[in-house]
Amino acid sequence: MENQIDTQMEQRKGRRLVLFPLPFQGHINPMLLLATILHSKGFSITIIHTNFNSPNPSNFPNFTFHSIPDGFSESEASSKDVVFLAKLLNTKCVEPFRDCMVKLLSDVSEEPISCLISDAFFYFSQAVADSLKLPRVVLRTGGLSSFVVFVAFPLLRERGYLPIQDSQLEEPVAELPPLKVKDLPVIDNVDPDSYYEIIAGMVNESKASAGIIWNSFEELEQSELNTLRQEFPNPIFPIGPFHKYHLTSSSSSLLAQDQSSISWLDKQAPKSVIYASFGSLAALNEAQFLEIAWGLANSNQPFLWVVRPGLVRGSEWLEPLPSGFLETLNGRAHIIKWAPQLEVLAHPAVGAFWTHNGWNSTLESICEGVPMICMPCFTDQMVNAKYVSQVWKVGLQLENGSDRLMIERCIRRLMVEKEGEEIRDRISKLKDKAKFCLQQGGSSLQNLDSLVSHISKLES
Ligand code: UDX
Repeated sequence: MENQIDTQMEQRKGRRLVLFPLPFQGHINPMLLLATILHSKGFSITIIHTNFNSPNPSNFPNFTFHSIPDGFSESEASSKDVVFLAKLLNTKCVEPFRDCMVKLLSDVSEEPISCLISDAFFYFSQAVADSLKLPRVVLRTGGLSSFVVFVAFPLLRERGYLPIQDSQLEEPVAELPPLKVKDLPVIDNVDPDSYYEIIAGMVNESKASAGIIWNSFEELEQSELNTLRQEFPNPIFPIGPFHKYHLTSSSSSLLAQDQSSISWLDKQAPKSVIYASFGSLAALNEAQFLEIAWGLANSNQPFLWVVRPGLVRGSEWLEPLPSGFLETLNGRAHIIKWAPQLEVLAHPAVGAFWTHNGWNSTLESICEGVPMICMPCFTDQMVNAKYVSQVWKVGLQLENGSDRLMIERCIRRLMVEKEGEEIRDRISKLKDKAKFCLQQGGSSLQNLDSLVSHISKLES
C-alpha cells in the first residue's frame, strides 16, 4: 500500500499546477493553503498573481511565482467598490494572463501543466483556458450554502425577490428556507446590473469548469452539497478546512499581524475575551463604530478588537473614539490594526468572536469551537450569518443597526446566560466534526484523494 502511494507521488512529481488567486485577503489565504495541500501530494506549484495585492513569494520558497500587470490606475487600485474591482480584474487581466499562460505552456524546461486552478471570481480565465485547451478547476473560497443562493439568482430575480425592496425585508424566501429577503447575498451602493453580471460569470463559468473545490466539509453543508451535485454536471470536492491540514504553511497575510494580541490574551481569564474583527473589506460609518465601541465597553467583558486602518469611513484609525476611551477601561481592552487571527481564535482566553462572517472567519471560528456574534455586511456574509445563527445554531445574529444596548444584551446572552452555554456546546460538537473529516477515512481526506486522482487524469 505504502509503495503504491510512493509511486503515485513520484508520478505526480512530473506534473505542475498553475494557481491564480483573486487578489483579496479572503481569497489569497485559501488559495495558498490549497497550493500547500496539493504540493504535499507531489505536484509542483506555480502561482500567477496580479501586482495589485501581491502575495510575498519569499514566504513560499517551494512555489514558483509569476506576476502579471493588472493595469490598475492609482485611483482604481484604491477603490473600495469590490464589484467594480472584480469587473475590472476580469477585463484588464485577460491579455496579461493569457500571455503568461502561453509562456508557461511553451516552456519545455518545466514539468507539463495538468490544469489551471483559478478563483471562481476570475471567471474570464475559463475562456482563456478553453482557448489554450487547458483544463480549468475552480476554487470557490466561500461556502456551499451561499453558492446555492447565487445559483438561484436568475430565479430570485424572476420571482421579484431581487432587487430587494425595503418593504419585503422580513418576508421569507420560500424557495430557500430559512432565508428571509434581508438575508439574500447582495451588496449596497453598487450598480445591481454589474453585480448580477459578476455573480452570473462566477456561477456559469464554475459550471463549465473541470471541477470545483470548496474550503468546506460535507458534514457542515451536506444538503447544499447534494443540491449542487444534482444541478452541476462537474465534480465537486469539499476538502476543507484547509488551514487544519497538518502541514507547515506560511502566512499569506497582506498586513502585518500584531503579535501583542497574544501576550495580551495570555493575561486574560479562560473564555472571557470577545474577539471582534470584521475582515479585510467591510467598512463602517462613524456612528456604527461608536455603538460597537460602547457596546463592547459596557459589556464588562475584556475585548480584543481589530480596527483595520480604513474600517471607519472617513477616518485613518481610532480618531472617532472619545478621548480617554481606552484608559477608562483599565486594560480590559486591546485594539490592534490586524491580528494573527488563527492563533487568536485558538487561544484559550477567547470566549466569543464578533465577526462579519466572511467565509474564512466563519470556518476558522467553527474549527476552534468559538461561538459567534454575527454582524454580516454584504454578499455571502448575509447567508453565512443566517446559517451560523439559525441552521447550525452556533452564534447569535445582531440585527442591522443595533445600538449599544442591543449589543450589550447580545454579548450577555452569549457570554453569561444559559443560551450561550447551549451554543458553546453545539459549536464544540461541530468543531469535532471539522476535526474528524481530516482524520484517516474522513470525508475531506477522501474527497482530496478523489480530487488528486481527477487532476492527475486531466490532460492539457
Ligand atoms: C472576503 C469577503 O468579505 C467574504 O464575504 C468572502 O467570504 C471572502 O472574501 P474577508 O472580508 O477578507 O473576505 O473575510 P474572511 O473571509 O473572513 O477572510 C479574512 C482572512 O483574513 C481570514 O483568513 C482571517 O484569518 C484573516 N485575518 C482577518 C487576519 O489574519 N487578521 C485579522 O485581523 C483579520
